[in-house]
Amino acid sequence: MSERSDPPGETPPVAHVAHNARVWNYWLGGKDYYDIDQQVGDHVTSMFPSIREVARADRTFLGHAVRFLAGEAGVRQFLDIGTGLPTVENTHQVAQRVAPTSRIVYVDNDPTVLAHARALLAGSPEGETDYIDADAHQPQAILDAAADTLDFTEPVAVILLGILNFIADTREATEIVETLMAAAPSGSYLVLTHPTLELGGDGNVEAMRFWNENAAPPITARTGAEVARFFQGLELLEPGIVSCARWRPGYEAEDEKTVAQFGAVARKP
Ligand SMILES: C[S@@+](CC[C@H](N)C(=O)[O-])C[C@H]1O[C@@H](n2cnc3c(N)ncnc32)[C@H](O)[C@@H]1O
Repeated sequence: MSERSDPPGETPPVAHVAHNARVWNYWLGGKDYYDIDQQVGDHVTSMFPSIREVARADRTFLGHAVRFLAGEAGVRQFLDIGTGLPTVENTHQVAQRVAPTSRIVYVDNDPTVLAHARALLAGSPEGETDYIDADAHQPQAILDAAADTLDFTEPVAVILLGILNFIADTREATEIVETLMAAAPSGSYLVLTHPTLELGGDGNVEAMRFWNENAAPPITARTGAEVARFFQGLELLEPGIVSCARWRPGYEAEDEKTVAQFGAVARKP
């Protein structure tokens, strides 16, 4: 990794195993990965050629959703769990460009993301950003720490992009979403992307199997029906649960290529 970026200070103990945050960064064209991440990332790409398109579409979806929430929806607080390594157009940059007073809390449990978190903290002077090194398996601990920056009596956008797929048990994943959304008041939003086998993507099954045998953490695809359960009790915004490449606020961009990743936004009534 040191050839491509500043050493993070302390070498993470997982450098001999490809890890999702770094491989995702590799697929996105970043520079914060080790050789093992590149090797595994390339092998997955050889099996599942559209994976880079999935990664790029996921980030584009983040931009569309956050711009809409900070703009039209008037949301000023964002809790982005499973942040990933800093890249272009992180949540605070998108939100604070629209509304400089926006407050953003980032959460990830990857030591490499923690080492690079400073780039996520350089927000607008009028707003605030914070980074919490925490595990999504413990949503209450995340909420307790996030309360130092976010006011949970005001609407919050809870952002879970590409992370519930690392919570293997669907019931636990659903409970995590419920705990987070229960803490947020009416007018809050859930923003979510999730890989699926229902939207095509040649080689996806084999690539996920390869990932689970060679990298961390293990990944789980879900059906549209399973993803819909995460939104129970919430009002799905149009166009509903669609390929994240096609999601636009209020409509589906039919000219965009479908990628094997659902994306959706919902409002808490
Ligand atoms: C596929 S990346 C998505 C990054 C970013 N949200 C995006 O959409 O571009 C998933 C991120 O979730 C993080 N992650 C995975 N399991 C986690 C857990 N149990 N707790 C916190 N973060 C986790 C990984 O470290 C990684 O940075």
